[in-house]
Formats: sequence, structure tokens, C-alpha cells
Amino acid sequence: MLITAGPTHEPIDSVRFIGNRSSGRMGCALADEAARRGWSATLLLGPAPAFPTDSRVRVRRFRTCEDLRGLLREEFGSADVLVMAAAVADYRPKVDPAMWNGKFRRHSTNLTLELEPTPDLLAQISGSRRDGQVLIGFALEPREELIASATSKLERKGVDLVVGNPLETMDSTEIEATLFARGGTRTPAPKMKKDAFAAWLMDRIVPMAAGAKVSP
Ligand code: CTP
Repeated sequence: MLITAGPTHEPIDSVRFIGNRSSGRMGCALADEAARRGWSATLLLGPAPAFPTDSRVRVRRFRTCEDLRGLLREEFGSADVLVMAAAVADYRPKVDPAMWNGKFRRHSTNLTLELEPTPDLLAQISGSRRDGQVLIGFALEPREELIASATSKLERKGVDLVVGNPLETMDSTEIEATLFARGGTRTPAPKMKKDAFAAWLMDRIVPMAAGAKVSP
């Protein structure tokens, strides 16, 4: 089982970046839960404070969307399940790569930073999936937009399940999720700690990956 977690940091210069408040807790809890159940679990972890507690979880670190893209390219082929819990940047600074080793200086005039869109990693990877691979995406949304947006991400990203969460979930120890499956099924989960939710979600993921080999 391949799981991604945490934010991306997109460099502005050698000391500054654009990031987000993702703690990586949800993905770490999922990786721990997968390892506990006998899965071979690989966690692609961004620059987050959280870390898995189960030593059987294999951890590979990333910083940027581009790093994560490279790791997914290496790891996805041998995965039965991909759970994309990482909060990947949608835009990154479009700066001269020479600035990655340098530093923007203070001036008295305004500074405009141009941003360019990042590739949608989940949508790209779902285009290359083989039969039997299960893909799960996350969607963090304002409450009133959750249903419409999570449903459209299910289609747009070509995944089997979207875990929809209200915005307050980010950086919190708790989660109040609704699962959106293909065919229109919606399953609300009770509000719970992320560790408990990892077990709840895993109970629903495992039957979807019927062909996977797991050593108990
Ligand atoms: N995702 C991704 N690549 C990106 C951005 C997001 O693979 N560049 C993945 C996330 O890991 C998550 C899912 O797509 O599983 C939804 O992320 P989200 O940020 O909610 O969706 P966006 O595609 O960014 O759409 P929007 O900005 O409209 O919310």
C-alpha cells in the first residue's frame, strides 16, 4: 500500500517557500494501520511534523510537488493501493532556478511573485493505472461545497474513492469525513480522532483491494 502525506514546500529562494498547514497526521495514521494489518506499507512523506510510529512503514521524503511526482513514478507500479492524502500545492512560484541557491533582497517597492500551476499528480497517475489497482483521493473543502466538489474530483481524477473533509480537518487531530464512491454512494463517518478514522477507512479500503497479497 502506497500512501502520501503532508504538505509540499515550493521554493521561492533558498530560504523561503510556499507551503500549507498539512500536519501529515492522517497519512501517517493510515500507514501505521496498514503495517499493523500486514500490508507492506510505503509512506511518501512531505515536510510535516508527523512521523509514523510503526517501524515496518517504509518512509521516503519529498519536499516539492516535483519530488513527489518522481517518487510516485518509482513506487506506483508495484502498489496495489494508492492513498493520496498529501496536500499537494496547486501553484508554485515561477522563479529563475538560480534563485533556489540565492535570496530575494528587500527593496522599498512591491514585489510580485508569479505562480504557475503544478501538475495534478493523482489525475496523471490514474491514467497509467493497471487493472486491479485501487486509487483513493482526498478532498478538503468548505462544508457547503463538499458534495459537489468531492463528486467532481472522483470523476476528474479518475479515482475509486474520495475522502471528503471540511476545511477545519487540516492540522486538526480529528476528522469528520464523508466517503464518495463511484456510482454515487456516500458514506458519512462519525467525527473521530485520525487514528480511529484510519482503522475505519482501512476496513473499507481492504475489500476494494481483493487481489492484493497481504501477510498477516
Ligand atoms: N492532488 C494531486 N496533485 C495536485 C493537487 C492535488 O495529486 N497538484 C491530489 C491530492 O493529494 C488529493 C486530491 O488531489 O488527493 C485533491 O486535492 P485538492 O487540493 O482538494 O484538489 P485540487 O485538484 O487541488 O482541486 P481544487 O483546487 O479545486 O480544490
